[in-house]
Amino acid sequence: MLSDLNILLGVTGGIAAYKAVDLASKLTSAGAKVNCILTHSATKLIRPKSFAAITSHPVLTGMWEKPSAGYNAEISHISMAQNADIIVIAPATADIIGKAANGICDDLLSTTLCGCWNKPVLIAPAMNNNMWENPAVQKNLETLKGFGFHTIGPETGRLACGAEAIGRMAEPADILKKIEQIAKEIK
Ligand SMILES: Cc1cc2nc3c(=O)[nH]c(=O)nc-3n(C[C@H](O)[C@H](O)[C@H](O)COP(=O)(O)O)c2cc1C
Repeated sequence: MLSDLNILLGVTGGIAAYKAVDLASKLTSAGAKVNCILTHSATKLIRPKSFAAITSHPVLTGMWEKPSAGYNAEISHISMAQNADIIVIAPATADIIGKAANGICDDLLSTTLCGCWNKPVLIAPAMNNNMWENPAVQKNLETLKGFGFHTIGPETGRLACGAEAIGRMAEPADILKKIEQIAKEIK
């Protein structure tokens, strides 16, 4: 289903970042070529190496970093955007949702995403329920939907803070199903 597709997986600094490793694994197993960008905050929660090992591709984490050994130096925020067939942001923090809705480009992921506005983008929000219910977050999400972004979740369940509430990232298996649906639409 995903065999000829380049998927750009953006991982942001939410506690659910560890689940993104499972998603990267599922996408790779489904035959997709997966390139990952981790934000600086994401790297505080999960190691880029985990994604590199699972996808067999180097992981980008910064706009100004020298590409790692063996990396195609031509890959930048522009070529990453051009090469991607589908962009997936999982987990998507309140921060990246706000940046994408307002055209803010202050790191590699937000800048790459800005160049992907005319491609299929799937956002999987994950955050504390109070953050999720914040009208600014809801407004930003509505803006993204208006731009044609796809969304999945969040779900109700146990949050990192211990509360049973809305805010959990959708399960990687469900995100995979949604990506497969999107892939069907663009093929
Ligand atoms: C342990 C920890 C967990 C966090 N989890 C979340 C989260 O689930 N969702 C969220 O929107 N922000 C979360 N944050 C806050 C973000 O990391 C913060 O807003 C950061 O600026 C996001 O940057 P990014 O969008 O570039 O990754 C968390 C922060 C910490 C310290």
